[in-house]
Amino acid sequence: MIACHTLLNMLTVGSYLKEEKLTNNASYNLLLNGQLMLEELVFLTLVSFRSNLLTFNFSIKHLTTFTQYASNLLTLQSSNPFSHTMVSVRNPPRNVCVIGAGPSGLVAARELKKEGQKVVVLEQNHDVGGQWLYDPKVEGQDPLGKDTMGSGLTVHSSIYDSLRLTSPREIMGFTDFPFLIKKGRDTRRFPGHKELFLYLKDFCEWFGLREMIRFNTKVEYVGILDYGAFGEDLKWIVKSKVKDSDEVISEVFDAVVVATGHYSYPRLPSIKGMDAWRRKQMHSHLYRVPEPFRDQVVVVVGNSLSGQDIAMELVNVAKEIHLSSKSLNVSEGLSKVISKHDNLHLRPTIECLHEDGRVVFVDGSGITADTIIYCTGYSYAFPFLDTKGAIGIDDDRVGPLYEHTFPPSLAPSLSFIGIPRKLIGFPFFESQAKWIAQLLSGKRSLPPRDEMMKSIQEFYKSREAAGIPKHNTHDIADFEYCDKYGDYVGFPHLEEWRKDLCISALINSDVNLETYRDIYDDEELLQVAHQSPHFTQLEHEALSSSL
Ligand SMILES: Cc1cc2nc3c(=O)[nH]c(=O)nc-3n(C[C@H](O)[C@H](O)[C@H](O)COP(=O)(O)OP(=O)(O)OC[C@H]3O[C@@H](n4cnc5c(N)ncnc54)[C@H](O)[C@@H]3O)c2cc1C
Ligand SMILES: NC(=O)c1ccc[n+]([C@@H]2O[C@H](COP(=O)([O-])OP(=O)(O)OC[C@H]3O[C@@H](n4cnc5c(N)ncnc54)[C@H](OP(=O)(O)O)[C@@H]3O)[C@@H](O)[C@H]2O)c1
Repeated sequence: MIACHTLLNMLTVGSYLKEEKLTNNASYNLLLNGQLMLEELVFLTLVSFRSNLLTFNFSIKHLTTFTQYASNLLTLQSSNPFSHTMVSVRNPPRNVCVIGAGPSGLVAARELKKEGQKVVVLEQNHDVGGQWLYDPKVEGQDPLGKDTMGSGLTVHSSIYDSLRLTSPREIMGFTDFPFLIKKGRDTRRFPGHKELFLYLKDFCEWFGLREMIRFNTKVEYVGILDYGAFGEDLKWIVKSKVKDSDEVISEVFDAVVVATGHYSYPRLPSIKGMDAWRRKQMHSHLYRVPEPFRDQVVVVVGNSLSGQDIAMELVNVAKEIHLSSKSLNVSEGLSKVISKHDNLHLRPTIECLHEDGRVVFVDGSGITADTIIYCTGYSYAFPFLDTKGAIGIDDDRVGPLYEHTFPPSLAPSLSFIGIPRKLIGFPFFESQAKWIAQLLSGKRSLPPRDEMMKSIQEFYKSREAAGIPKHNTHDIADFEYCDKYGDYVGFPHLEEWRKDLCISALINSDVNLETYRDIYDDEELLQVAHQSPHFTQLEHEALSSSL
């Protein structure tokens, strides 16, 4: 396994050589250092997509030898305006607790291990995968997904049986572990949820992560061991419980990485009459299959991915579906679906609910329904975390968090992976994991606390000025941010093909909601992707046969 790992690292570095591309910051620094002549810049393209997806891409030729690349990279890391944080002193290995073995926790474990830390991953479930570990057993749960015990939910995954990926598989993989098509498995570009689960299991085997994970172990408490030492070398007390046992295990760690996800705790609207309504109300967190809704009149609240997917699945089973949306100005794709199905109706938001089953919408129209399914999204929750107010959640803003990752007063000893939404998840989690690992090993350091706080306040102000509601604080929707974030640790910028394929899938889904996962016209982009170092860095056969 060690040999595989080293080979992988070499191949990853080699991939840059083949690609002969550096990022704008990279090019800028090379120029500053006098290592590149102006004529060596072949072209500069400015690509923009909508107002918030903006990126520069420089292609540079003549960087042909490994040593030249390596020395350039070192220069880059020390002179990059974002990596003001390079330091030379290495810390001794730390005891680090990662909470959660979903995609974020797995990549965190991998990066921490690489940096020589002693890592324990505590996972409440029986396997890896997080959301992607499908859980069909939802009987006995509160249908609105309320945390009735006050100690966290018992069902973590919100994945339903028919769920397929919303983005093409090519863009999903961690940078050094492509999400390949495998014989005998789900070979579709937008595969079902099980295929991503299997990918994560493969990732775990390939990097030898399983031995670090303690399964069926739920973290119930995380707090600072000695509050007197606040701000100094912190230690954390972590209390956990093994499934079906009453024993509480207490352990002390030097650092805690929270990777517990945020798509499990329902975010419910507040609607007049909700408590009095006697018929069935549930949240999409516990929706699994359409059969229980056969011949029913169902109101689906929320017109985002869950609401659309569930409404489209119910058209073949339910008597009527009323999709309640905040805006009636919907995408072309959804309009096509609605006009195709007589039993699917678009409605505005709900005004109030009546005890007898009536649902009244804000336009005055009304129906009598059997079930309401709230597809209204999820809230952040860390019921185990006790930081004495150093970090809190205000209307789904988790903060203060420097770059969505570090609470300034507790960093880098406490960190969070996976908080940002609306970005290409796995590579972003990977860049977060690298930063955390390199900070803990002492390779880098963070800016002073007041600078981090200032940056957070400026970020909040800019969001407010842009009219973005507080509960969308962590919605990124910006490739440039991901690249800037990666610059903190010299993490490669998102490949252009990843961005292009993501955009092409978004456009296709907007127009062809029902069919975008099976009919697409981005073959040229796909070819570019498959010829890129991400896909050629490993021999497909070698990877398949080794697992
Ligand atoms: C319906 C749905 C569809 C989605 N579709 C896509 C998609 O198509 N593409 C995409 O990129 N993303 C999608 N996502 C987002 C998805 O959440 C991410 O892909 C990814 O799973 C996030 O990884 P994570 O590790 O941060 O969190 P999770 O996957 O949620 O993993 C968190 C882990 O922490 C564990 N945990 C939580 N609390 C504790 C505790 N107290 N003690 C111990 N362990 C704990 C959980 O059991 C879990 O294993 C979807 C999400 C949902 C809900
Ligand atoms: N792979 C897949 O196919 C798939 C399927 C489902 C989900 N997902 C992923 O899972 C995550 C969660 O998605 P989600 O759709 O469950 O949640 P979501 O993206 O947070 O969407 C919830 C929607 O409900 C709306 N809403 C809230 N209150 C409402 C009300 N009272 N009336 C009408 N609408 C209301 C919200 O509007 P506001 O934002 O304005 O409040 C928002 O549009 C996302 O990351 C998504 O990508 C993926």
